[in-house]
Amino acid sequence: MSAEENHGAGEAVAARIERRWATLSIAVVGLLVGMAAFIGIHQASMPQGHVETSDPRTLHLSGEFIESNLGSQVEPDGSVTVRAIGQQYSFTPQCVVVPADTPITFRATSADVVHGLLIEGTNINIMLVPGYVSVLQTSFKAPAEHVMPCQEFCGPGHQGMWGKVKVVDKTAFLNMAAARRRLTCVD
Ligand code: CUA
Repeated sequence: MSAEENHGAGEAVAARIERRWATLSIAVVGLLVGMAAFIGIHQASMPQGHVETSDPRTLHLSGEFIESNLGSQVEPDGSVTVRAIGQQYSFTPQCVVVPADTPITFRATSADVVHGLLIEGTNINIMLVPGYVSVLQTSFKAPAEHVMPCQEFCGPGHQGMWGKVKVVDKTAFLNMAAARRRLTCVD
């Protein structure tokens, strides 16, 4: 091999190594971009760690939001859980009954599109998003009736979508709850 050929071979090796490094660095950059994109899309499209999900397609058929499980329930610790769903264009239950002066947990979701659950005269304003369970803890000081309109535009029937929250005396509520597993004030 002449000195010239040797030199040429050396250049070829150098060029090959350089190409390899270039390919590798493009791959690394590509991998990082891919990871960043994946994390971004994942965070945007997936629920956060502690968020609960529900399947709008099977909401009525099984699980927590089956119709017979909707309404108010007394928990072993004395608090009350209210389960409700919103759908075009009503809330179920249409009338929610809760005791005054008691920790209340609302658990609600949507069977179709995004609805809003607003309880007038309180600061309660929950978004009901299909696929997710909205959880809100609150309490009501005194017996009262509150109108509960939907406050997210959800279609042509939006204006007519509303329910009611009836806050009753705690003892009266517990008496009612003794006879029934889930309470509502729907006539
Ligand atoms: Cu439901 Cu607006």
